[in-house]
Amino acid sequence: MNRRTVLKGGVALGASLVFARPSVFASAADSRIEVLLNEPIGTISPNVYGHFTEMLGAVIYDGVWVGENSKVPNTGGIRKTIIEKLKQIKAPMIRWPGGCFADSYDWTDGIGAPGKRPERGGFWRGEPNTFGTPEFMRLCRLTGAEPYFAANVRSLPALAFDHWIEYCNAPAEKSSLARTRAEDGSREPYNVKYWGIGNENWGCGGNFTPEQYSQEFRRFIAWTPSYGEPLKFIAAGPGGDDLDWTELFCRHTFGGKHAIKPKDVFGWSIHWYTWDLARGKTHDWDAAKGDALAFDLTDWYEVFREGDKVEDLILSNWSTLAQYDRDHQIKLAVDEYGAWYKPGSAVDPSHGLGQQITLRDALLTAQSLDIFNRHADKVAIGACAQLINCLNALFLSYEDKFIVTPTFHVFDMYRSHQGARAVRAEFSAPRVRYQRDNKSATFWGLKGSASVQGKTLTLTVVNPHATEPRDAEIALRDGSATSAEVTTLTNADIHAHNTFDHPDTVSTVSTKIMMSGPLLRYTFPSASVTKLSVALG
Ligand code: AHR
Repeated sequence: MNRRTVLKGGVALGASLVFARPSVFASAADSRIEVLLNEPIGTISPNVYGHFTEMLGAVIYDGVWVGENSKVPNTGGIRKTIIEKLKQIKAPMIRWPGGCFADSYDWTDGIGAPGKRPERGGFWRGEPNTFGTPEFMRLCRLTGAEPYFAANVRSLPALAFDHWIEYCNAPAEKSSLARTRAEDGSREPYNVKYWGIGNENWGCGGNFTPEQYSQEFRRFIAWTPSYGEPLKFIAAGPGGDDLDWTELFCRHTFGGKHAIKPKDVFGWSIHWYTWDLARGKTHDWDAAKGDALAFDLTDWYEVFREGDKVEDLILSNWSTLAQYDRDHQIKLAVDEYGAWYKPGSAVDPSHGLGQQITLRDALLTAQSLDIFNRHADKVAIGACAQLINCLNALFLSYEDKFIVTPTFHVFDMYRSHQGARAVRAEFSAPRVRYQRDNKSATFWGLKGSASVQGKTLTLTVVNPHATEPRDAEIALRDGSATSAEVTTLTNADIHAHNTFDHPDTVSTVSTKIMMSGPLLRYTFPSASVTKLSVALG
């Protein structure tokens, strides 16, 4: 979106941010944000800003991977623009190869000379295996992202997992698999630390019971070769809010005479898709979904209501884990999240689970990242599902066409939270009121998160109200500002999205402001995501 569109939407950016003492404000603000600079929550793990790429639809093939002989500009087969954009947002981590695909994948199909790799039916689509471990590691090395693999628990034995670790991490010349890796282009070990033990193992990952999955998990992580790299194992968490899965897994893993120690487990995976927009009329997987583009005001708010539930999942899983892991050595990995709409809005019909991304999805993404920041002591990994041409994508591509979505802009705005110290921020604003199936409903009026890195405070805020701006007084407790920069993502049309023909319909606007003081005032535009970067004196 260009600056003119912002002004047309009634938002005079730069004119509305004022630092002052309370007496200076002639009229009362309708909202208040108090940033408690001396109340740290924890360091925001950069990996919370991670991404998910599955061998699905056009995520890898035609998305990330175009091949070395493609007319699409590429580095070693990887689309150049995606490398540049991932570097821009400092993408810290990428999860691969699934998703459900992971538990049907034989990693040995994706190594060796590309022309000699087998073609498989694949879980989601035909799998040519031209993109395998060496190519995924190329993507990670070119972008600086940490790899996060998901192992196959459903259909491969633990020995195959050991061998995958060996291929990735064994020192050169130390084993046949290390030599194969060298022939595949990397004499040096990949030093892969993060390993998911399966994916959604209550469902596509094997239909296990929690007790069975606990047994598999224990077997997979026992005496795995580490080659000097401390491995971080992530266990597959529950389907939705099924806390039984969490409790029973913990009981069989960490309880009783034959318990293993929580310190041996790095993370507990949580997946939360915002898909059920039926407001209780049905919970059918297909029927309950909404449309990515054709939505009314109720569905605008419904997405945020559903998206908010990930905070309940964080809290409920955290307290259930605490029954067996009092010191909270196991952190949470929200490694799949985003909106999931009905099929029909993909940029090409061949893009399985592809959909358009609107301003609504940007607000949902910002809302999710703010939740993770507010729980920086609990959440160690996040992976937005999925990176390109799929669900909550940051990018859409088709052959040589490539655009960034509103979700990308949120990651770009929020990157200053990575590695920063999250501090408590209290929000108070009039609640949104709207009609939900002929009954009046309400939703929070302003929410966000705050973090401090050096002398810079990053305050990110979502105003979900579709039509009303919120005028907020922002108090910095135990601190004072010397200047600020404001970045805003909004549009007069809540359905706004980017297309190949109009790639900048939704984009950010930034303005610098030179003022000082412990109190500031800002008008948050309707339907917006805002970042205030405040220099602290
Ligand atoms: O992201 C699409 C699918 O959603 C993943 O493969 C699976 O883990 C989840 O159910």
